Amino acid sequence: MGGPYGNPWALRAFVADARSRGCGRLFCLGDLGGFGADVDGLWPVLVDNGIECIAGNYDVAISRGDQDCGCGYRDPRDNEYAQLIYDHTLAHTSRGFAAWMGRLPTEHRERIGGYDVHFVHGSPLGLNDFWWELLPAAEHRRRAGASGADVVLCTHSGLAWQQQIGDTLAVNVGVLGKPANDGRTEVWYAILDLDGPHARAELVALAYDWCAQAGSMRLAGLPELLWKPSKPVTGRRAWRSCRRPNAPAGSSTSTAVHCPPASNRRPGGGAALQPWPGCCASSASPSRTSRCGRC
Ligand SMILES: [Fe+2]
Repeated sequence: MGGPYGNPWALRAFVADARSRGCGRLFCLGDLGGFGADVDGLWPVLVDNGIECIAGNYDVAISRGDQDCGCGYRDPRDNEYAQLIYDHTLAHTSRGFAAWMGRLPTEHRERIGGYDVHFVHGSPLGLNDFWWELLPAAEHRRRAGASGADVVLCTHSGLAWQQQIGDTLAVNVGVLGKPANDGRTEVWYAILDLDGPHARAELVALAYDWCAQAGSMRLAGLPELLWKPSKPVTGRRAWRSCRRPNAPAGSSTSTAVHCPPASNRRPGGGAALQPWPGCCASSASPSRTSRCGRC
């Protein structure tokens, strides 16, 4: 999995879901902070469940006490909000956890089940390289060629995808910390199957207690823009069949995972009338107890 971004609720859900699907080893490709308020809440979940981690650009920056996250954004607004979250994370991450981050390697390579598997954060070209699915084919080949592994796993750009590039299976495992701006509340991770004659990956949509995460961010005083839904969760296309319209190839399409609560759906499958009723979308005072009890 990639970027838990200070979201221990999603991390716990990931552990339970992956274990229930028979996953033997759990890996984190870094960026422990970067969106949510409770980065320290990740630490016991990572350690207690034996999750094997590499560092992302965020973890390197926090461990060194850098002035910014080194995320590599180009848009001024992206940098503005990234700085705000970074300042919060730097101020609220315990020194012990920061030191732990600083001892993580920034990549890992291992032969597993006969396959050469390369774990990176951005890409084989760099820690904060954005390996987007929509890059030209030559750019994909450049990154896969820089590794030469049978399988390369990455996360930094945050959107899950997989692609066979020559002899290399490249997988962006997505991030756990926040949704992929795809009109859904679920986040994504990947399951790698190395038992067969060909390495295979499945991209999995993961439901978690998003309400608790949003409430935590609200109580921490993070900007409303980050935790308050600004538009209906999704519309007719997504909820008619409770399947994601543009789900990544190889992704899980379990109805149980993908369907929003029935109370959020209009009879007949149309757009939601009240996407997240009574929860953290409310602009009520922080002292008001909402449906989730945490806002
Ligand atoms: Fe990153």
